Amino acid sequence: GLAQTPIQQVVAAPTSEAATSASLTILYGSQTGNAKGVASGYKALAEAAGYAVTLSNMADYKAKQIKNETHLLIVVSTHGEGEPPDDAMALHEFLASKKAPKLADLKYAVVGLGDSSYEFFCQTAKDFDQRLAALGAVAIKPRLDCDVDYDSATEAFGEALIADLKDALSAPSSQVVAMPSGPVGLSVASQTYTKKHPFTATLSEAQKITGRDSSKDIRHIEISLEGSGIQYRPGDALGIWFKNDPHMVDDLLTLLAIDAQETVRLGDDELTVKEALVERLELTQSYPTFVTAYQATVQSDDLAALLADKGALREYLQTRQIIDIVREHTAEGVSAQQLVDSLRGITPRLYSIASSQSEVEDEVHLTVALVEYEAHGHTHQGGASGYLAKRLEEGAEVQVFVEHNDNFRLPENPDTPVIMIGPGTGVAPFRAFMQEREMQDAEGKNWLFFGNPHFTQDFLYQTEWQRFVKEGVLDKITLAFSRDQEQKIYVQHRLLEHGADVYQWLLDGAHIYVCGDATHMAKDVHDALVQIVEQHGNLDREAAEAYVTELRKAKRYQKDVY
Ligand code: 2AM
Repeated sequence: GLAQTPIQQVVAAPTSEAATSASLTILYGSQTGNAKGVASGYKALAEAAGYAVTLSNMADYKAKQIKNETHLLIVVSTHGEGEPPDDAMALHEFLASKKAPKLADLKYAVVGLGDSSYEFFCQTAKDFDQRLAALGAVAIKPRLDCDVDYDSATEAFGEALIADLKDALSAPSSQVVAMPSGPVGLSVASQTYTKKHPFTATLSEAQKITGRDSSKDIRHIEISLEGSGIQYRPGDALGIWFKNDPHMVDDLLTLLAIDAQETVRLGDDELTVKEALVERLELTQSYPTFVTAYQATVQSDDLAALLADKGALREYLQTRQIIDIVREHTAEGVSAQQLVDSLRGITPRLYSIASSQSEVEDEVHLTVALVEYEAHGHTHQGGASGYLAKRLEEGAEVQVFVEHNDNFRLPENPDTPVIMIGPGTGVAPFRAFMQEREMQDAEGKNWLFFGNPHFTQDFLYQTEWQRFVKEGVLDKITLAFSRDQEQKIYVQHRLLEHGADVYQWLLDGAHIYVCGDATHMAKDVHDALVQIVEQHGNLDREAAEAYVTELRKAKRYQKDVY
């Protein structure tokens, strides 16, 4: 009512005054580099608009500094069961603590990156949003929660945000805005390949490295990067743009009575529906947005019930590909364009690189588990793994790019000891680590924990590890073949058995790396580490947990888990 008007004016005055020295700070918290990429794009947009802008990794940001900010943009991803990425941990914790300051003068926006098939979708972004609001900060725009195909959503959000900030942030002339060096158009841009502009590489090898009686089909993949000039480091991942199985696409089109040659529109492109489905749209995973769109045409009671029950829907989608949903709810009258519009864009799959360039030069190696399973009366194959292992001939082209991961790096000092825990295909980056440490002539000791079902079938890269041991590069290898005896033995059991040594290595400054399954293994390994510190460091549980958290913050405990 009327009585409120003067109060609002009083409140408004200092804010607009503060705006004269206003600037935009962009903070990102990234595990694999996606959030960093999006944040860097926002920086470029803001600079192009003439705003004063600072970009920083949350890990390098002094949390207390936040009270001096006027405009803050946060870009953050979420991991596992709703956990923040390592880089975001400290700020995340600070904002939830009693030390967090009042932030009444702060305007902010949050962009979350996540995967809607996980229960805790964009949880870290939600946490930041809630905490900032609770501390009195004001959201400029509602939070954006992005799914795996985030490109167009983040771009649109950035453009709208930059426009919204026009009045607040137009840079006074005294402010120096960083300019790109060199006259535009003349700078010699180094050839870089990115997710959007991948390199066309060649598949040179896709060799099965599990035994014929193994329950798994794991491939050693070699890809030639010749001519690309691409540089990668141990710890980095390779992104693979894959194509869907054309037979599956034909089956899907037959089910829906759609002519494969029919033309559809996808963004600005026109192409046949078959091309769109093979090359551009996600079919090997299923997702809620498809069910919603498909249900609009099929009007099925089952799907309606599923859509009303999030948990049931998640479970339903877990083992199904798009074609299963269509098979179980056949419909007539879905047009080619409707089908295409109901599907999300294909996203490249990331694989931890299994080689070091100091050893393999212009090759890149991967360790890929072929996903293949029977369900709902049909054989299912994973998108990228099926493509690499089964559908792509040796010598064929494959579109790739490197995703740098500064959160999974060997210690800078080659004398620092490392403990590597990588069961299954999680061993991949440790092959790269060992190749690198060998070439470095590193003095630091190396200890590998590896596990898989059976010694005779599943000992990945066995002869290579044996050579590393013989050459004195690998000091210890500890194995957990889970099914070679009655009781399951996992890497975490081996860690506990060797607890005293593990603790001694930690005292000697060892860095610990964990790669592989996030849902079970990485958690169990984490608990084992805490238990080791508790027992051998004579600490209570809480102190042991704090010790392990400190290891993480100091980047001495790094994870590459999926
Ligand atoms: P399993 O399949 O015999 O249960 C690589 O996949 C290895 O990790 C396999 O030996 C697998 O054992 C094992 N594994 C399964 N669950 C695990 C867990 N929670 N922690 C550690 N290893 C696990």
